[in-house]
Amino acid sequence: NIDVSGLVDSDTGLLDRAIFTDEQLYRQELRRVFAPNWLFLAHIDQFHKPGDFFTTYIGEDPVIVTMDKDRRIRAYLNSCRHRGARVCRADEGATRNFTCTYHGWAYDLDGKLVSIPNKDGYPESFDTKDWGLVEVPHVETYRGLIFGTWNPQPSPLRDYLGDMAWYLDAMLDHDDEGTVVVGGVHKWVLEGNWKLAAEQFATDWYHVNMSHASALMVLSPTKNPKNEIVHRTGRQFLDPNGHGAGFPVHAKNRFNAQKVHEWIDYDALRERLGEARVEGPLTDGHATVFPNFSYLPVIGTIRVWHPKGPDRMEVWSWTVVDKSMPPEVREAQRLYNLRTFGPSGIFEQDDGENWSEVQAISHGFITNSVPLNYQMGIGSEREDGRHPGTTSELYSDAAGRAFYGRWRDLMNTPAWHEKETR
Ligand code: FES
Repeated sequence: NIDVSGLVDSDTGLLDRAIFTDEQLYRQELRRVFAPNWLFLAHIDQFHKPGDFFTTYIGEDPVIVTMDKDRRIRAYLNSCRHRGARVCRADEGATRNFTCTYHGWAYDLDGKLVSIPNKDGYPESFDTKDWGLVEVPHVETYRGLIFGTWNPQPSPLRDYLGDMAWYLDAMLDHDDEGTVVVGGVHKWVLEGNWKLAAEQFATDWYHVNMSHASALMVLSPTKNPKNEIVHRTGRQFLDPNGHGAGFPVHAKNRFNAQKVHEWIDYDALRERLGEARVEGPLTDGHATVFPNFSYLPVIGTIRVWHPKGPDRMEVWSWTVVDKSMPPEVREAQRLYNLRTFGPSGIFEQDDGENWSEVQAISHGFITNSVPLNYQMGIGSEREDGRHPGTTSELYSDAAGRAFYGRWRDLMNTPAWHEKETR
């Protein structure tokens, strides 16, 4: 294990580029950042009856998320106990058993090994009870978002989210009916380290006016003919667990779909969520739940940055809407999300290009010896009395420093599996 203290200095706001490129650090991340933390798995609306399943990843470990016969959401390592093949190769669907297509071992919805061909060929000591799927020990849900962790003794999900829950509710708690998913899950590959994306969604409003200048002009040619800075004021939330969110305050031009905008009852929302939240995180905010789950409240996009090696990530994206939305409003939100932050969305293209560009030159020897700057807003962190937790200016790297501070601490802390073997 590598001590990363010298690579991340959150006091001075300097970062060593090796954290985006080094293979050994990447392996350590999988052990110490991904395995012990709560990670987003799926949305509850993807499961309606026993046997519904969705396959995803915790770090690079493939997992099956499914609803068992008691309608409980459970998750298993998607790897056969025989020779290790995936027992489910489909992205999603419904089944009674997960049958491995290599030699035919079959597991039920409780993960039990229920059938194996040529069982007589095994010794008497062989007991199918010992060879069930490895279960993800903790799966919890927050307002429809399902999270899981390999950590045998995690803090409860709600505690892990802490103040972040207040910001998440700006997207998830518009009424008592909750949210549903519209359309499928979009998946695409980007050449770039997963942290570049997670960090940007946590802390970076700064890039918007430069990187998205063309897109903003296309969306609002009359409002913004000279590409003026769109939002000057706002806040950024930072959290000791590494979560982050940024949002303009009292944004004049919410750039969500007009039909959605017209349908939303802002007075009712103000009553439920409060003025600070409706005129804050519910404007054009961005956010990351550490480490790799991000969302944009008004667009309705939720996404995971799956790590695929130090230089590559896979983006998985859902559109989430209020269940109470009528079909035509849901469709308007889905289309708007696709046009802006879908795989070929006009904003998504800008972001992906930036991350890939940064990554493409990160392996240079001299390039790697020059620190990166996260100093904007140093010393501006405070409690502002209007938004929970600690906040900074909208244009700030404060949540980025907190994100990497948390990453550094986890990287320097032995995870449960290392403690057990000592
Ligand atoms: Fe699954 Fe052999 S690897 S049955």
